[in-house]
Amino acid sequence: MKTNLIHWNKFLVLLVLAVFVGALGCKKQNNKENLTAYLAPQLPDQPYDYSVNTNRNTKHLQTFNSITAQIIPINNNIATLGRVIFYDKMLSINNAIACASCHKQEMAFADGEKFSMGFANMLTKRNSMAIINPIFSQAMHSGFFWDIRETELNMMVIKPVQNHIEMGFDTIANVIAKMKSVPYYANLFQKAYASNEITVDKIRESLTQFLLSMVTINSPYDLAAENNFATFTPQEFRGWEIFSKEGKCLNCHGGDISNGWVETIANIGLDDKYTDKGIPNVNRIIKNANESPSEGYFKIPSLRNIALTGPYMHDGRFSTLDQVVEHYNSGIKNHPDLHWNLRRNGTSLPIKLNLTQANKAALVAFLKTLTDKNFITDPKFSDPFVGMALN
Ligand code: HEC
Ligand code: HEC
Repeated sequence: MKTNLIHWNKFLVLLVLAVFVGALGCKKQNNKENLTAYLAPQLPDQPYDYSVNTNRNTKHLQTFNSITAQIIPINNNIATLGRVIFYDKMLSINNAIACASCHKQEMAFADGEKFSMGFANMLTKRNSMAIINPIFSQAMHSGFFWDIRETELNMMVIKPVQNHIEMGFDTIANVIAKMKSVPYYANLFQKAYASNEITVDKIRESLTQFLLSMVTINSPYDLAAENNFATFTPQEFRGWEIFSKEGKCLNCHGGDISNGWVETIANIGLDDKYTDKGIPNVNRIIKNANESPSEGYFKIPSLRNIALTGPYMHDGRFSTLDQVVEHYNSGIKNHPDLHWNLRRNGTSLPIKLNLTQANKAALVAFLKTLTDKNFITDPKFSDPFVGMALN
């Protein structure tokens, strides 16, 4: 919704300018030209390099590198097309919402809202997810969305466009018809596919390639992991110890952070009874889950860029990392489906970490080292429609 407001703000500024310039007796046409220019994306002459070079010279990402290496190479012109589609509000029924409305670069592609506003001022049922290394979820086949209902990125990318809350189109044919009416797409499809024909497969592929290129492994934590943690402050290092040892956080949130055992879904005892039941039919996925009905299982999200992606959890119930840490410290409910990693050894009771204030602060300080500043400022992932009105 904020993007929407910014859009309107710009429009208002233009409108005021138009009236002002008009009053001065100058040509109004200039403003019309500006308005047209605003609609076209601003792209570099040579496309950015979207190739995924995950090979940091490091041991901690060996699993990440070997798994993601299986994913097809990315074509720069196809990913560029995907970038434009990702940011284009034309892709919503009322020209108000783009993927980027709920996935903002400066927030590591989350949106800072508990629930997000779609095209008709309706709220999404779950908290918008940050887009963090989708290449890893794809390579692991661990699933997309909080309830992992899609395993293939190229199947999921088209869903929000058709979703009645999110972008609101009835059929893809209508989306394609609309894209044909926009002047810049023919050229972008031509560059990407040597043919200006717009098809649903190309829309899928280009969005997928753009998302696969969104690799974020360049944080202070990565630098520390490569240097025996010498670059960490003592507090950050203490936080890492809690995260990787007594807190058992790494047992579940390892994945794209460190080598080792990778869990993909869990119930973390947020409630005694869940209103949002989460992943359906868990027993089919996990053999040792409790007898039906199981509930409260959600995707274990990546914690990269976590300081930027609040509010937290599938329903955005926690607004700060301190609150999240307090949940794991003292708030875990004894739900029958609670993951064994969150039960005290040899008992069925939830863990109580009993962290001191200093240790809680250390854990939060560690979580803040997972922020990748390059990722959130890299122009190749940025909004190509921004700043057009000012030129
Ligand atoms: C109105 C807000 C909204 C819009 C618009 C939107 N999304 Fe999302 N996105 C969400 C929400 C909410 C979720 C979590 C939904 C769920 O789990 O049921 C999500 C989840 C995702 C995920 C899953 C991430 C993961 O790690 O599992 C990806 C990828 C994604 N969106 C990409 C896109 C793309 C691509 C577009 C545009 C075609 C888009 N989104 C448009 C709100 C939005
Ligand atoms: C048993 C596996 C498991 C363990 C152990 C675990 N987590 Fe989680 N974590 C999850 C799952 C699953 C979610 C999402 C739950 C939901 O939304 O219902 C989550 C969510 C989070 C989130 C919010 C992510 C977001 O994008 O909203 C943070 C932060 C987090 N965990 C930090 C930690 C820390 C710190 C520890 C250690 C003290 C820890 N986790 C231990 C499974 C785990």
